[in-house]
Amino acid sequence: MINPVYRAMLSRKSVIRELSEYATARGKEIGYENVFDFSLGNPSVPAPASFAEAAVRLLRNEDPMRLHGYSPSVGDPDVKEKVARSLERRFGIPYQKEHIFPTSGAAGAIAHALRAVTETGDEVLVFAPYFPEYIPYINTTGAVMRSVPADTENFQINFDAAEQALTERVAAVLINTPNNPSGAVYTEETLRRLAELLRRKSAQYGRTIFLISDEPYREIVFDGKKQAYPASFYPHTLTCYSFSKSLSIPGERIGYVAVHPDCEGSDVLVPMMAQISRGIGHNCPSSLIQQAMAETVDDTSDLRVYETNMNLLYDTFTELGLRVVRPGGTFYIMPQALEEDSIAFCRKALKYDLVFVPADSFEAPGYFRAAYCLATEKVERSLDAIRRFVRETYGTR
Ligand SMILES: Cc1ncc(COP(=O)(O)O)c(C=O)c1O
Repeated sequence: MINPVYRAMLSRKSVIRELSEYATARGKEIGYENVFDFSLGNPSVPAPASFAEAAVRLLRNEDPMRLHGYSPSVGDPDVKEKVARSLERRFGIPYQKEHIFPTSGAAGAIAHALRAVTETGDEVLVFAPYFPEYIPYINTTGAVMRSVPADTENFQINFDAAEQALTERVAAVLINTPNNPSGAVYTEETLRRLAELLRRKSAQYGRTIFLISDEPYREIVFDGKKQAYPASFYPHTLTCYSFSKSLSIPGERIGYVAVHPDCEGSDVLVPMMAQISRGIGHNCPSSLIQQAMAETVDDTSDLRVYETNMNLLYDTFTELGLRVVRPGGTFYIMPQALEEDSIAFCRKALKYDLVFVPADSFEAPGYFRAAYCLATEKVERSLDAIRRFVRETYGTR
């Protein structure tokens, strides 16, 4: 029998991927430099030289048996130690290597974290707007995704709706800050309120509600600010990190789960994730890449371009009268479309070779997302197209 669940997923392909494929095809017709492709969140700056240098040094000098062998199923101990020390230095939480589980990016981290703290039929709560891949990430575990409508004022958390949605069936809450697609950075106040809510509901239901914190954009924060660290506010947190965006190495597939030392089950969660790995065929990330990551754990690419691009787009959208919450980080911006139907809005933008993503699939209907991980020169050239699109389609502004 052909599995009906995965077969049905074939007809629900990612809108983002489809638009990106459209942009590539259009690029073949008119030259890709003339397509303002704001569809895909692929980093646009190179990895720091330190990453390649570490990989080359390891390839030249490391014992090939260690470098190319399987790492232990819980991850390479030296790598885990370096990640734990970095987290302790940065966030003051005394992680030990036993709390770190190296994964294939944030997707791999979330796959393990979800399975470790939910059972079939449990609910996992997410806050709109959210990364649409959360739907398959959650629903293929046997748990069920439930979403809380967005706080459209500032894209923090809609606490009134969260209070209602956090029923006894909820085993875990999955957050993402800095947020894809809104660019919102959850404030300390938001994280404190969330922790208070989780504590209160856990006590009421007599079981711990876990927090899974998806943080691939942690290092991309604007205006000289920093993302408050969610695990500092709530100990029952599994932090899911990825180096895809901070080191611009999404194809290398490396990240980790960090289990807070005071999390319920902190002594067993990482060994359990190694067991989950056996079942889902993850096993361990590349040994070479684990070790190269550990050498560069505190480095980042030169991420400044994203803030420059954000300001150019934010200023242009606001000048044209679009309602937009200024992003605090990431490389996304999510303005409100100029008509209710954001799919129609994005379709009209294509005439100007502007490829925006309707935010309906992020559960933010009426909004659209622009991923500005592009060269600033291209963003600058797109501004004229944006002005013409808005003025010619929606009247002088
Ligand atoms: C919010 C969010 N979570 C998870 C991921 C998956 O990241 P990775 O490539 O590290 O698996 C992405 C990728 O774009 C993302 O935007």
